[in-house]
Amino acid sequence: MARRTVSLTMRPERLELDDLPGLVALEGEGQPHPWSKAQLHNALVDERAHVLGMKAHAVLQGFAVFYRLPFEAELQAITVAPQARRQGIASVLLAHGITQARAWNSERLLLEVRASNQAAIAVYRRAGFQQDGVRRGYYRNGAGREDAWLMSLPLVAGKA
Ligand SMILES: CC(C)(COP(=O)(O)OP(=O)(O)OC[C@H]1O[C@@H](n2cnc3c(N)ncnc32)[C@H](O)[C@@H]1OP(=O)(O)O)[C@@H](O)C(=O)NCCC(=O)NCCS
Repeated sequence: MARRTVSLTMRPERLELDDLPGLVALEGEGQPHPWSKAQLHNALVDERAHVLGMKAHAVLQGFAVFYRLPFEAELQAITVAPQARRQGIASVLLAHGITQARAWNSERLLLEVRASNQAAIAVYRRAGFQQDGVRRGYYRNGAGREDAWLMSLPLVAGKA
């Protein structure tokens, strides 16, 4: 079967406060460890944050939150609706976030991901991220703890 790809009419756009209800709904539906409404609100109003989304027929299908740090940028959240996965939406959001981080002159794009999240790790590796280290037991996982993988993508030629 041919791989479905992102519809040509679906383009990343900068999300605004009006998009908060859609963000809350998508995060609740698609993220096992969802951000709260307050966290999503704060991202939308924080001038250091760049919140990108992709919509089909005005319904949010995926979003990603990028933050500008003093020297680097960080991907803090990315979620795609379960029925819209494996169409390249996360990859397109990531590519646009990388372009934004380059525009900020960030040296690297950083992220943390649960060691068990093989889908996300596959997306990041495909975008060129490398693993820099592990934070042992960083995340709560039910009654136990789970490691975080620290990953990064160098953005400035010659810096790794
Ligand atoms: C992780 C997530 C954002 C990926 O979104 P997506 O739009 O489905 O990803 P893409 O379609 O861009 O995938 C690109 C490539 O990554 C790899 N990939 C993506 N999902 C995968 C999976 N479940 N298993 C294996 N590889 C996967 C594949 O190589 C895929 O390309 P292919 O479909 O041509 O094989 C999505 O699964 C999700 O929302 N998960 C829940 C929230 C989450 O875990 N967020 C990350 C927190 S750090």
